Amino acid sequence: MNRREFLKISCSGLITLYLSGCGLNMQSGQNITSAAETVSGKENSKMKITVITGSPHKAGTSALLADKFIAGAEKNGHKVFRFNSAFKNIHACTGCDACGMSGPCVHKDDIETEAIQKFMEADVIALVSPVYYFALTAQLKTVIDRFYSRTYDINGKQSVLLAAGGSNTPLTMRSIAKHYETLAGYMHWQDRGRVLAPGCPTREAIAKTEYPQKAFELGMSL
Ligand SMILES: Cc1cc2nc3c(=O)[nH]c(=O)nc-3n(C[C@H](O)[C@H](O)[C@H](O)COP(=O)(O)O)c2cc1C
Repeated sequence: MNRREFLKISCSGLITLYLSGCGLNMQSGQNITSAAETVSGKENSKMKITVITGSPHKAGTSALLADKFIAGAEKNGHKVFRFNSAFKNIHACTGCDACGMSGPCVHKDDIETEAIQKFMEADVIALVSPVYYFALTAQLKTVIDRFYSRTYDINGKQSVLLAAGGSNTPLTMRSIAKHYETLAGYMHWQDRGRVLAPGCPTREAIAKTEYPQKAFELGMSL
């Protein structure tokens, strides 16, 4: 597939997203959106869940959301693979197109050797990030860009977004949520819910909120 076709698919994905409304809840804050009733054939069965974190803080705010989400998912019997991108040997996509969007990637790093297969096998992909300048961290975005090498095999999954930000304004989660919605629409992912935690600059702060429990419940809801 050449770039022109990629753009064509991107546009059609966006149109699909626009037409379908994508079923996504756009409010930030305390929202958990569950779409279990429309997930074909996977309700109540044990699923493979890949959690990709983006923070360089091992015990930070978003790590707590990830921990709780995983605890809920595992309590429900699901199998979880966690990829902490900030602590891995990863390289940015150079756009060389050697993969032709169907792999392998020229980078023989931790994404290619230990993670990409898990991404392809996953039923659910959970993206977890602090808000950095209104976006996902560069580490997590690096992983997402590398989906390019297996775009077709990472299509059609279920997805989750967990994010924490220091400020608490209407803008804090706006861009990150929009990016997630657009990505999910393009990838034909079905959103299973989001926990967006503004006003959480530190682990101590988020621990006092309802967000960790909401992350646990989201994991349990899958
Ligand atoms: C480089 C950088 C950029 C940040 N940008 C934002 C921002 O745009 N909005 C916001 O609310 N918080 C911002 N923060 C604060 C973090 O999102 C916040 O402290 C978060 O809880 C950190 O999560 P972590 O402990 O999982 O790394 C930023 C922090 C850093 C270090």
